[in-house]
Amino acid sequence: MAETKRAAITAVGHYLPENRLTNHDLEQMVETDDEWIRTRTGIEERRILKDEDKATAFMGAEAAKELLDQRGVSADEIDVIIVATVTPDYLFPATACLVQSEIEAGNAYSFDVSAACSGFLYALTTGANFIESGRAQKVMVIGSDKMSSIVDYTDRSTCILFGDGAGAVLLEPSEDETGIIDYIHRSEGDTNLSLYQPAGGSLNPANEETVKNRLHYAKQDGRTVFKKATVGMADVSEEIMDKNDLSADDVAWLVPHQANLRIIDATANRMGLDKDKVMVNIDKYGNTTAATIPLCLYDWQNKLEHGDNLILAAFGGGYTWGSIYVKWALN
Ligand code: ACO
Repeated sequence: MAETKRAAITAVGHYLPENRLTNHDLEQMVETDDEWIRTRTGIEERRILKDEDKATAFMGAEAAKELLDQRGVSADEIDVIIVATVTPDYLFPATACLVQSEIEAGNAYSFDVSAACSGFLYALTTGANFIESGRAQKVMVIGSDKMSSIVDYTDRSTCILFGDGAGAVLLEPSEDETGIIDYIHRSEGDTNLSLYQPAGGSLNPANEETVKNRLHYAKQDGRTVFKKATVGMADVSEEIMDKNDLSADDVAWLVPHQANLRIIDATANRMGLDKDKVMVNIDKYGNTTAATIPLCLYDWQNKLEHGDNLILAAFGGGYTWGSIYVKWALN
């Protein structure tokens, strides 16, 4: 077996649909207003994948192609492809297998990870373990969600929140001290079902009733999830700093899951970080579930410096939450 090395992020790709759904558009669809959405969530617009014949695998594959282009590697060099998503094209086969065939990564093996808004973080550490063990040299980690496929556009409490998109990173053995240094992952069964999609699984398979009762859409008790998310995301972010002896000055960037600007602010406050060290693009894309964190990395990649300390943090359905300490390897 090869020598153990850290896993470094060596390229970032993304895909965002062209079509924009603004707060003003939503005012025409449900009883809401731009001011309420902006002040309660920080969101101004989201992207929506309109093409009926395209979904999560398409967006993931587009992000993957950009990634390969950026790094100048061919698809057949990829060993593993992991897709984090809660909106797979099908319940099976895995969306990762569809991405694999679309990009023609014939030597890879592929699987999906389901951890809602923490999916990208779980997938990233899973991918890092393949590199650290020496069993893989190139692992593609993709977060892709077509949330518009499970959003009820008659429910104002959820339809204002979500958007579609995909982000992807490549993991390779690090050549120096940079890479994924540490992580904390947590989960807890949300037995009260405060954030879930009631039907379409094995407990409530699709039938006339489930469709009539709109049970194939995401449902959320926003207040309950908000409280859990605010505490959970701040706790793990503070914990990973303590565990690694990082002060606020040592942290270059917080890369938070983009669910609500107020949750992001609470996490940054607990970490003692100024706003200018926090990646925020929720205003442009809303909550794209598994794609938020790689989309932040994509948008900020030119501002990042080699050796920068990044804290990635997320909270999502499950419940699932976690944080990752990354020393940036690019630039
Ligand atoms: N426009 C106008 N008013 C609204 C809207 C809307 N779109 N939605 C709700 N309201 C009203 C409510 O009816 C309520 O009115 P009432 O007081 O008369 O009953 C009032 O606004 C306040 O409602 P709350 O639900 O308490 O509003 P809150 O401030 O909590 O914001 C939100 C709601 C934005 C959903 C927030 O709770 C939230 O962000 N929750 C967490 C989301 C999250 O982190 N999810 C996890 C990740 S997602 C994943 O894992 C897939």
